[in-house]
Amino acid sequence: MFQLNNIVNQDISLPKALGVELFLKREDRIHPFVSGNKYRKLKYNIEEADRLGLKTLLTFGGAFSNHLAAVAYAGNTLGFKTIGVVRGEELSAETNNPTLVFCRNHGMVFKFVSREVYRNKTSESFIDDLKHEFGDFYLIPEGGTNTLAVKGCEEILTENDFNFSHICTAVGTGGTISGIINCSQSSQQVLGFPALKGSFLQEDISKFAVNSNWELITDYHFGGYAKINKELIGFINEFRNKYSIQLDPVYTGKMMFGIFDLIKKGFFPKGSRILAIHTGGLQGIAGMNAKLKQKGFPLIET
Ligand SMILES: Cc1ncc(COP(=O)(O)O)c(C=O)c1O
Repeated sequence: MFQLNNIVNQDISLPKALGVELFLKREDRIHPFVSGNKYRKLKYNIEEADRLGLKTLLTFGGAFSNHLAAVAYAGNTLGFKTIGVVRGEELSAETNNPTLVFCRNHGMVFKFVSREVYRNKTSESFIDDLKHEFGDFYLIPEGGTNTLAVKGCEEILTENDFNFSHICTAVGTGGTISGIINCSQSSQQVLGFPALKGSFLQEDISKFAVNSNWELITDYHFGGYAKINKELIGFINEFRNKYSIQLDPVYTGKMMFGIFDLIKKGFFPKGSRILAIHTGGLQGIAGMNAKLKQKGFPLIET
């Protein structure tokens, strides 16, 4: 089911005068729905659920969550029941949200909760209530990040990647970058591009990361999680036309925009060899395009 032999480091050819090289690790090619870091984060968690004999996976996410879609698909394919605790009670009335439709079609059962309840989703009493309602389950945290997810993400870099000077990745909950940091060489610099505002990430990553060769570049979140503007849409469409690679608007588009901008500004020393990780997430484009259409914005080409 999962195409690990499809992962290549694709040359994003840049004008020689810039003095740096850029490659994109095509983890998005692992699978259309369990793509990139989703596969990496679920791999050992699903093995653990199996080992514990648990037949239900329960997890959390928002309206366009790549993580929910990946859990629904993987669970359905591998014989688990799946439950998605979704942020936003109002979404229960939405019948055409593409991510939720996809999850439902893959057997996911939803529990829609208010934003306030969602904020307390890790409290013991909330988890106990969920157990009463749904029976025993294997809990996968929001965004899929936990120790086993980080272990999976430690398999993103291989020894063929050790000749890159910089490794770049998008950051949401911090699990993916933590795994990358742990499997990087101390001579390499790992740069994370948060897709959302907030200073909590530094601390969250420090819980999992064993090396200190990393930095967060916080200038490219475009106003917050799932917020985008016409400049970013234009960049994603131009990138696709030029390199035939689809980026997503929430994570990899922002990261790649940031890398191009930093290259222009001379952030990377001459001779740098940059490896960016394509962490997938392309299923979210349909939902984002529906929102853009409502606002009369240009759409992301697919
Ligand atoms: C496509 C994509 N890239 C990057 C990330 C960020 O990963 P993490 O939450 O591990 O920081 C996510 C969110 O999980 C994602 O869906």
